[in-house]
This record gives sequence, C-alpha cells and structure tokens, in this order.
Amino acid sequence: MMTELLQVSKWNPEPEIISRAAEVIRSGGLAAFPTETVYGLGADALNPEAVGKIYAAKGRPSDNPLILHISSIEQAASLVHTNAEAERLMRIFWPGPLTLVLPARENIPLRTRGGLDTAAVRMPDNPIALALIAASGTPIAAPSANISGRPSPTDALTVYHDMNGRIDIILDGGSVDVGIESTVIDVTDPQKILMLRPGGMSRELIEDSLNMRLELPGTISIKRSPGTRYKHYAPNIPVIIWKKDNDFPDININSAGYIGIAEPAYRIGKSIIFHDTANYAHGLFAGFRKLEAEGVSCIVAEWPESSSGLGEGLRDRISRAAGG
Ligand code: TXA
Ligand code: MG
Repeated sequence: MMTELLQVSKWNPEPEIISRAAEVIRSGGLAAFPTETVYGLGADALNPEAVGKIYAAKGRPSDNPLILHISSIEQAASLVHTNAEAERLMRIFWPGPLTLVLPARENIPLRTRGGLDTAAVRMPDNPIALALIAASGTPIAAPSANISGRPSPTDALTVYHDMNGRIDIILDGGSVDVGIESTVIDVTDPQKILMLRPGGMSRELIEDSLNMRLELPGTISIKRSPGTRYKHYAPNIPVIIWKKDNDFPDININSAGYIGIAEPAYRIGKSIIFHDTANYAHGLFAGFRKLEAEGVSCIVAEWPESSSGLGEGLRDRISRAAGG
C-alpha cells in the first residue's frame, strides 16, 4: 500500500484535502490525523472491517477498545447513553483532551469497543480533526498512530516512520499541542467517577467542575480499562527514573541519554532539558524517540516533582515507559 502524506493548514484546513481523507474513512480505509494530544490512526468506528484494519496496522491486541472521536455533543449522544455529569463535562471541556467512558448504544460494533458494554467518546480540540470527522459523516475510531507499545507520535513524520505502507493517508498538521494522550474517565456511574488514565486534562480541573473527587478504579480496572494491562509508550532501550533529590543512577553517563527539567550535576552523553512540566509533557515522546535514534544505551527520565496539572499524566507515561 502507498501511504500519502499531505500537508494541511491547521487553522484553515483545505477542503479538498479534508474530503480526500474523509473519502478514505468512508470507504473503510485508514487515515492518520493530528489531534491536540497526539496523532490518531482513524477508521470508520461503525465499520467493523475498517476497525479491524487499525488493530492490524498497529499490531494492537484486539480486546483493547478504541476511542470514538466525534465533532458534536449530539453525535456523542447518538453513540452512548449520557447522564447529567457527563453532559456537564462535555459542555465545559469539549473540544479538549478529555475522554468519557459511558454505556454504549447498540450501534457501536463490538470490535470498536473491545467487546465491552461501554464505549469511550471524545471531541478533539484540533480544527483538522474536527473537519475530518464532520466531512466523514461518521464517528472516527482512533488510537494513537504508533506501532503498539511504542511512544505515541506527536508529529506527522513520526507517524510516517511507524505507519508507511500500512495506512492510506497521513494528514500533516504540524506538531501537536499537548504531547500526551487524553485523560480517560469512566462516568458510567455518576456517583462514582473513575480515573482510568491520567492525561492532557488535569484531575483538578475535572474535580473542581464536578465538585467531587475522581476515584481510582482499583481491582475492577482490568475489566474496565483494558489498556492498562499492556506495556506502553516505551523506547527500545531501558528507561530509568531519577528523582531530583536522589543520587543519579549508577550508569555509564557517557553513553546515556537524559530527559527532564532539572540539569543533572553530571555531563550526560545526550540530554534534552525542558523548562516546565507542560514543555516536558509536550516533548517526552519525541524526546524518547530522538535519544533512541541517537544510539544512547539507556534513558534517564526525571520524575516530575508535582502530580498536579499535567504532572499526573506525565508521571504515568514515564513510569509505564520504565516498565511500571
Ligand atoms: O489523546 C488520545 O486519547 C489519543 C488521540 C488519538 O485521541 N488516543 C488514544 O487512544 O490515546 P488509545 O487507543 O491509545 O487509548 C485509548 C484508551 C485505552 O487505554 C483504552 O483501554 C481506553 O482508552 N478505553 C477505550 N474504550 C474504553 C472503554 N469502553 N472502557 C474503558 N477504557 C476504554
Ligand atoms: Mg496509544
């Protein structure tokens, strides 16, 4: 398969390019596109055969359900059973990096929702993504556009690197805004809302808007959040976590890579320094890939000092990359 890579203007997406990609989606093909979090690998969420191609292209376990990307709240309500709390979150945070898990309506194929009776919906905050969903006239199922287990792509060339020859088209809308995936919460029971995956939308903002705490899924998590079972976001070399006030890991620093905000006291072989948590989150996945490509023997990643804001999602991605 030839993969087309097309540039699209983020703030004024060219209609002819959007309709070309929408035609791919409508005819059961695969189109990668930017969202505000990471690039997504999209297919018609209501076409089980098309959704099957996503799993094949990524090498993803088929019981890990997909997020349905929609371009209006009405479209979400046609796919899942909402409740007052969910609608409140949609009104406040959509479009944005918040994914809601709710009871699925029958029209969502089992393959899209990994056989569960719930489904995940999200409205991405990116004009290209929204235009593509609207032009396709169907919800777009989209995981991150990387080979399963690899760091998620935050620009189109990285998508091309992982997906060339496996998908029909890639819309290049430049670098994403957030850099880590959306926050996923389960609102099936509005009395007990569960944090399934921390991410681009901070826990504090969600909790303040509901005036209630998000709970950890605990032991039901395996069934409720299948994605948490798999190793994720990892480069091909070891990732070692370093807390700023602890001794630096005992490794060969000349061949090592470093990524973080604090400047270590040693001269590390290759390092990538960020100026704050948001900047770190934005550059984490690209930084992993860059250091790996530069041939470092391992990556030391600084543990974010605070879990507030993007800190919780960033900690989650770093600890998964380090093996949990
Ligand atoms: O930011 C994002 O969320 C990106 C962009 C492309 O939108 N997408 C993304 O998709 O990260 P993916 O497939 O890599 O992660 C989706 C997560 C997985 O952890 C999956 O298990 C969970 O959402 N999920 C999907 N449907 C679910 C459901 N019905 N119940 C529980 N968890 C669900
Ligand atoms: Mg992913």
